[in-house]
Parts: sequence; C-alpha cells; structure tokens
Amino acid sequence: MKIAVLKEAAADECRVSATPETVKKFVALGAEMAVERGAGEGASIGDGDYEAAGATLGDRAATVKDADILFGVQGPDPASVGGAKPGAWLVAGMNPFGERARVDAYATAGFEALAMEFMPRITRAQSMDILSSQSNLAGYKSVLVAAAEYGRAFPMMMTAAGTVSAARCFVMGVGVAGLQAIATARRLGAQVSATDVRSATKEQIQSLGAKPIFVEAVAGIEGEGSGGYATEMSEEYQKAQAELVSSHIAKQDIVITTALIPGRPAPRLISDAQVATMRRGSVIVDLAAESGGNVEGAISGQTVVRHGVRIIGAKNMASTLAADASALFSRNLYNFLSAFWDKEAGKPILDEEIGNAIRLTQGGKVVNERLLA
Ligand code: NAI
Repeated sequence: MKIAVLKEAAADECRVSATPETVKKFVALGAEMAVERGAGEGASIGDGDYEAAGATLGDRAATVKDADILFGVQGPDPASVGGAKPGAWLVAGMNPFGERARVDAYATAGFEALAMEFMPRITRAQSMDILSSQSNLAGYKSVLVAAAEYGRAFPMMMTAAGTVSAARCFVMGVGVAGLQAIATARRLGAQVSATDVRSATKEQIQSLGAKPIFVEAVAGIEGEGSGGYATEMSEEYQKAQAELVSSHIAKQDIVITTALIPGRPAPRLISDAQVATMRRGSVIVDLAAESGGNVEGAISGQTVVRHGVRIIGAKNMASTLAADASALFSRNLYNFLSAFWDKEAGKPILDEEIGNAIRLTQGGKVVNERLLA
C-alpha cells in the first residue's frame, strides 16, 4: 500500500496534506509513504523531517509511480499523476462543483476521486472534516486581517490623552468560521454582534458574549437544511434581512461575512448602497469571496476600496496559516483512513455511508449523487 503525498501546484497554496506526524502514523499502519520533494516547504516542514519520519522523498514521477492512494490539499491535475496504479484513490479537497471538468477527467483517467469536503456531518466523522478544521483557522485570520487593515484600535483604551472607543464588529454567518471570528474579535476587545439564518446559532452567539441580530418578524423560517447547513431563504426573508442589516451595518466598523450555501453561489448579504452607509475607514472581510462573495464588489484575492470602506475578498485564508492548517488537514486525512483501515487487507475499506458521500468517481464514471442531481 503506497501513499503519495503531492506538492501542491496552485501558486497561493502553502499547505501540505501530510506532516511528519501523520507520515509516522501511516507507516505504523503498514503503509509505504512517498513524499514529493519540497511538499512541506510552504508549511515550514523540510524534506529531512519527512525522511526522519519514515518517508521516501522523490520527484513527482517517482512519488506517484505505482501509488495506491494520492493525497493533496487541492485536487491534482489529472495529467500530472499518470503513473499511479489503475483505480488509485485521489484524496483531497476537490472543490467538486467549482472544478467539475477536472472531476470528469478523473473519471476518464480511471481514478477514484474522494472529496474530503463532502464528508457527512455526522458525529463519527467530525474528526475527518476538513471544512471545520480549515474554516476555524480562516475565521480567526479574517479578524486579524481586518484589525491590521483598520486604521483604529479594536479595544477601548483610556489614556491620558483621551479615550479610544472600542471597534464595533459584525459577523454575518455563524458557522465554524463565524464562531471563531466572534471569539477572536472579542479577545481583541471589539464590541461584537452577529447574525445567521439558522436560529440555532442565536444561543451560540450569546454564549460567546456577542449580541445576536436576527430577523424575527418573518414566520416559518428555521434556515436549516440537511446536515446542519443553511438553505436558501424566501424572498420575504431576504427583504427583511436586508432592512435589518441596513440599519445595523451603518453603525459598524468591521464586518466579517462567512455565509455559504453548499453547491450554490454565496448569498448576497451586503449591497454597494449599504457599504456607502458605513463610516470611512471601516473594513469588510468577505470570507465567501471565492464562492461569488457575500458583499457586492468583493473580488477574491484583492482589496477593493468603495466609499472609503476597504472590502477584502479572502482567498484561501487557511493557507496563510499553513503550518497549523496542514497539521489539522493531515490529521483529518489520517483520522479518515485509519478509521477504515483493514489490518488483514493492509488497506482502507470504506463503508457505504461515508464512501458514497465522498466518492466522486469510480469505474470510469462520475458516481456522486450530488454531482448527478
Ligand atoms: P457554512 O460554511 O456552510 O456557512 C457559514 C454560515 O453561513 C452558516 O452558519 C450558515 O447558516 C450561514 N448562512 C448561510 N446563508 C446565510 C444568509 N443568507 N444570511 C446569514 N447567514 C447565512 O457553515 P459551516 O461553518 O460549515 O457550519 C454549518 C453547521 O454545521 C454548524 O452548525 C456546524 O456546527 C455544523 N457542523 C457539524 C459538523 C459535524 O457534525 N461533523 C462538522 C462541521 C460543522
């Protein structure tokens, strides 16, 4: 059982899909670990660290040759992994909706592509969930980025020269990233408020010491679909939300948006007209910028100034904390494969519930029902 750890190809990708810690653990399971030279560089892991953990280092061709399983943070270009065994597993964050053509190419090339972001939200899979582990770090970093761009202080300060008032920070979308953003902004001393479509988040917001801002007047909305994810809201709800946000946002200094709906463009939460009501020098970080953006005018990977407000379009925020992000991502992969490791067969054998949820391609075809629907 040979597992290949690929060096990431994307320019802004500093993470790596295995660390010396997980290499050691896979070796203990009986796997042969091959790591592409330089794979850990962006995450401050040297080739020697992998070697010491029991891996063999080599170039792409040698690493991939006869591999049974290939690890990536992002799905690799199918043409670059040609020497692997027929039917080899590709285990990575596949961005299946955004990279549909690549998924088709995996099928044609005979790979079995496993998308880690399709891991079902069930208790036993929590430790395998890359969305949680990476969003948590992204939520933290989004607040630090906002604080660095903001020309004022976050905490209230009483000085001999006068008082500096606390920044007001509004978090929109209170999933994993949003909760961490609330906690981080609170630690920095901001006055924090937050909103979500899932009413279950109200208590979570309060328990972190922030103020919930919720649409109350519209009947019959819970906002929660399957697996704890948000659903798309009615027009009536969206109108009520826009009105509520308009009055609240005008008083905010920092806004962090994190709202996502799986398989759909991110919901638009802030219009240009609403940005115009904010004080000059305010900062918005749009963590959903890569999925179309929650904020009108946000561009992924860029900072745009509108009406004196900086709109930061996040791009791969987790990669900017590559060492921690890689450690958690790698553990997610280890927790996943080790849970299914069959000692006698010397390889992982997936069960139906998790296998069917994450498997994109098999036997030359796209097989995942979320892609076929
Ligand atoms: P996400 O990344 O899909 O979305 C971020 C947040 O935006 C969500 O809270 C969502 O409700 C919110 N949102 C969507 N549309 C919105 C709108 N129009 N206005 C305001 N907010 C909007 O969500 P994430 O972070 O993946 O978490 C979703 C839930 O799943 C959470 O309750 C989390 O605790 C749960 N979860 C469960 C896991 C497990 O059991 N294995 C693992 C990870 C998360």
